[in-house]
Amino acid sequence: MCGIIGYIGYRPCVPVLIDGLKRLEYRGYDSAGVAYIQEGEINIIKSQGKISSLEEKIYTKDPLHATLGIGHTRWATHGIPVEKNAHPHMDNDGNVALIHNGIIENYQEIKEDLISEGYKFLSDTDTEVLVHLISKGYKETNHPLSAIRYCLERIQGSYAIGVLFLDRPNELWAARESSPLIVGVGVGENFIASDLPAFLPYTKDVIFLEDGEIARLDREGVDVFSKESGGVVEKEVKTIPWDITLAQKGGFKHFMLKEIMEQPRVIQEALSGRIDYKNRSLILPELDSLFLPEKIHIVACGTSFHAGFWGKYLLERLAKVPVEVDIASEFRYRSPIIGEKEMVVVISQSGETADTLAGLRMVKEMGAVVLGICNVVGSSVARESDKVLFTQAGPEISVASTKAMCSQMIVLLLMALYFGDKKGTISKKIKYEIFDNLGSLANVLEAELPSMREMAKSLAIEYSFARSFFYLGRGLNYPLALEGALKLKEISYIHAEGYASGEMKHGPIALIDPSFPSFVLATKDNLFQKVVSNVKEIQARKGPVICLTHAGLEINVDSRWDIPYMGDILTSFFILPAEQLFAYEMAVYLGKDVDQPRNLAKSVTVE
Ligand code: F6R
Repeated sequence: MCGIIGYIGYRPCVPVLIDGLKRLEYRGYDSAGVAYIQEGEINIIKSQGKISSLEEKIYTKDPLHATLGIGHTRWATHGIPVEKNAHPHMDNDGNVALIHNGIIENYQEIKEDLISEGYKFLSDTDTEVLVHLISKGYKETNHPLSAIRYCLERIQGSYAIGVLFLDRPNELWAARESSPLIVGVGVGENFIASDLPAFLPYTKDVIFLEDGEIARLDREGVDVFSKESGGVVEKEVKTIPWDITLAQKGGFKHFMLKEIMEQPRVIQEALSGRIDYKNRSLILPELDSLFLPEKIHIVACGTSFHAGFWGKYLLERLAKVPVEVDIASEFRYRSPIIGEKEMVVVISQSGETADTLAGLRMVKEMGAVVLGICNVVGSSVARESDKVLFTQAGPEISVASTKAMCSQMIVLLLMALYFGDKKGTISKKIKYEIFDNLGSLANVLEAELPSMREMAKSLAIEYSFARSFFYLGRGLNYPLALEGALKLKEISYIHAEGYASGEMKHGPIALIDPSFPSFVLATKDNLFQKVVSNVKEIQARKGPVICLTHAGLEINVDSRWDIPYMGDILTSFFILPAEQLFAYEMAVYLGKDVDQPRNLAKSVTVE
């Protein structure tokens, strides 16, 4: 939801900003802009559309040698995506430029006050009040820290901001509240960004800003201040072990495809250090320090919600612990009842999803213990949870989430095994079987993925006539049906609905006709025969059926796709990439923008 970057150092800043914005483009891509100080003035270049349009505009300009600048890629909230609403925004005197990610809730009343004082607004954004307030505070105090505090004291909402002052050409300022912002610490150069990949080619040393902190960067160092008191806050520099190759396409046409094909490695990483294969036991110190919950509440959004829903089936089956799963945007506005020995599990790839975070904060206030399942180290979910199980998937750049769900499912499976083991609800036989299969899962999947891709491609072409799809499954496959439908609709724009296959006859089956295919998950489990009956009901209405199943299982359908069987639980790790590849190949065949689907942005940091 908007990506921001700032640079101060010895390199020409514009290429650094553009390069960083391209790696942040997954956060928003409807307009973009940069501001830099050169020849005694703040220059701003903005463009509607993607970073490539901005680039074309920039490089028709004179050579750029500025070494201090800020950049922004936008996902519109207030004001349509046109050039005047793109960031950076400048004050009326041309002395302050600002970028912002977040939402200012009380901007309307501030705007009216500022207009009555003579300030001129050039955009329809909520952001513009920030730059005018800072400018006003600067005129009153002549000090950037005081000016920024003056502004932040008057606004409500969420923000990560980067600020330049024309008469302070050796300083870059930043602040955050409920929107992600990190500081990159280099040698003779420093950075701010919404996310690490933006400056990963230059440094892995990071300062995580907390809410209510303001940072001042110059070429040599970084000082952090409290918004509340104005006093200095001591911060630790942490090194993040992510490799730049993880944030590059590595020869693949799209990040989405790269991340799908990366899943064998993701499985290994998520398991890494967590299973003692020799003693067939689990190593999860994060859980050792918590209690055995009498009930679990899982809270998440989108694909992470589907992972949580899948986890519910497993936790109930293996650990016999009741689980409620909620979409975070619902959870935060109902009145959940969380008992003393109950635990809240919050799942988020980015760790910054606004609704998920709000749910987390709400239950923390209620006194609940929160376990985070999160990919991004230093993110808000990671910092605010009592304990965190990191999914260790590496950066996920594609807007459509793929490998993150795979890693979340591994972690949830380990959790179910851990609690089941501690409670004695899981037999040794089942536990050992799962351990043994987990040990070879990554290799089997690695060998399978190329032919799965070929199958997905030919099915995508065959079924590209369809304008609607059902995704159907039961038991563990029901959450996966929901995920398959989400993937297809978000990148190919084909309408798709995920249903529990047993529910079809209660209404949805009315839609079935020869132009409405169903993608059925009919894998080997205790519900297989029931799914076969559901398929027959569809076929009786002349509905075409694609079926994910295993060799040797008897089921007659239009298109059969056999995947390996490694026990009914681990079969999920083949269903997931099959659905992802089908959606991917469909979107590619239909000529859609796979990595940047319309209307979407990764990391939904607004409500
Ligand atoms: C779908 C997708 C979204 C996210 C959701 C939650 O492909 O990417 O549905 O899963 O916005 O995001 P996180 O996991 O970052 O909280």
